[in-house]
Amino acid sequence: MQSSLASLILTAATLWPLVAASLDAQQPLGVSSTSPPVAASHSPDAPSWRDDLLTLHRSLVEIPSISYTEGRVAHFLQDYLTQRDYTVWLQPVPQRNNTPGPDEPRFNVLAWKSASPHPSASIVLSSHIDVVPPHIPYGIEPGPITRETRIKGRGSVDAKASVAAQIQALENLLASGHVGRDDVLLLFVVGEEDSGDGMRAFSGFLDAMDPRPQFDAVIFGEPTENKLACGHKGGLFCGLTARGVAGHSGYPWLGKSANGLMINALAKILNTDLGSDDLFGNTTVNVGILDGGVAANVIAENSFAKLAIRVAIGPQDDGGKIVWDRVLAILNEVDPEAFTLTCSHDYGVVKTNCDVDGFEVAVMNYGTDIPNLKGSHTRYLYGPGSILVAHGDNENLTVADLETAVEGFQKLILHALSN
Ligand SMILES: *[C@@H]1O[C@H](CO)[C@@H](O)[C@H](O)[C@H]1NC(C)=O
Ligand SMILES: *[C@@H]1O[C@H](CO)[C@@H](O)[C@H](O)[C@H]1NC(C)=O
Repeated sequence: MQSSLASLILTAATLWPLVAASLDAQQPLGVSSTSPPVAASHSPDAPSWRDDLLTLHRSLVEIPSISYTEGRVAHFLQDYLTQRDYTVWLQPVPQRNNTPGPDEPRFNVLAWKSASPHPSASIVLSSHIDVVPPHIPYGIEPGPITRETRIKGRGSVDAKASVAAQIQALENLLASGHVGRDDVLLLFVVGEEDSGDGMRAFSGFLDAMDPRPQFDAVIFGEPTENKLACGHKGGLFCGLTARGVAGHSGYPWLGKSANGLMINALAKILNTDLGSDDLFGNTTVNVGILDGGVAANVIAENSFAKLAIRVAIGPQDDGGKIVWDRVLAILNEVDPEAFTLTCSHDYGVVKTNCDVDGFEVAVMNYGTDIPNLKGSHTRYLYGPGSILVAHGDNENLTVADLETAVEGFQKLILHALSN
């Protein structure tokens, strides 16, 4: 089955018409779609869809899906959405280093409500189905469920809360007739927490089509505390090495300390304004790894650091390179020969549309998949829960957070459709 899927993706340009035919070959692989139902809730303030939302959210969080192991959760969504009359297509995404383990296929999940064999949606609702390690089991506060009830577990916020709320929002708008069956495409990608390979695979799939499909708007679900983001910082991710000359620690002038050079360079980098902006604040530098030398009484020959720099200036394509050049200038000032700076990726601030009535707005200091999806669509960034707990062992949100997000996504879909 896997090889037939893989060959389908190779023929991406002709793929949309084949999707319906391929569905037969993609029956569920024995993943149960039933979880213990969430305890019935009867609070007067409960929306009619509360149980559906909480049960879906629970099922998603219960399935472990650390980056590169998203197969089960993708199949769960395939079952769940197929049962609700969606046409579902699983887009295979290669394993890390392009070495698919036979047991661990992974997929982006694409779904649209109409029976049409190819989606013609103008709006995309998207989030990611992978999570950071370790898996943390689902938990919900005991007692009757109210808006204040807390739910915890890995992915309960980032980003399975967005996945559940997006599906519920779309279901509500379809049921009330506010959106048509062809208006919205659901896109749930793998790999966002690691390399962004899932969204890049989807973007590449679009590139291979002629003409390339063009969406009017893409609504990205990530934890924003239900504020509508005006954008997020860019990033520059680098390894820095300093090379010195080893020698006896009692005679430092006979050698050249790589650690000394590294300390001077990092201090300058941390104390320099690398770029700031009224909206996005300051460019910040995290020295996440520092390693150098071999012994206390030996002048260090080598020193190594890893930096994650959050870039506060644009434009999206070049803001990261501008900061990169500023760091290189500092290194050159400290020592024109000792340093090597190797940066794996860089981008400037990513702006999103926050000009919608009825939302509190904010900017985010983290990265997302938004730059990995090429195209000139309007971009929105919104979702339930706080990034401050998203990767911690205290990851949690409230029922109210989830329910507010359903309403928020509905508003954004309607806003995007009316523009
Ligand atoms: C940015 O850095 C300057 C010092 O360079 C500081 O005064 C200011 O408070 C910082 N702004 C933010 C938003 O952190
Ligand atoms: C739940 O998340 C909030 C942030 O939304 C955090 O302040 C709180 O400490 C967390 N609670 C628990 C019990 O982990």
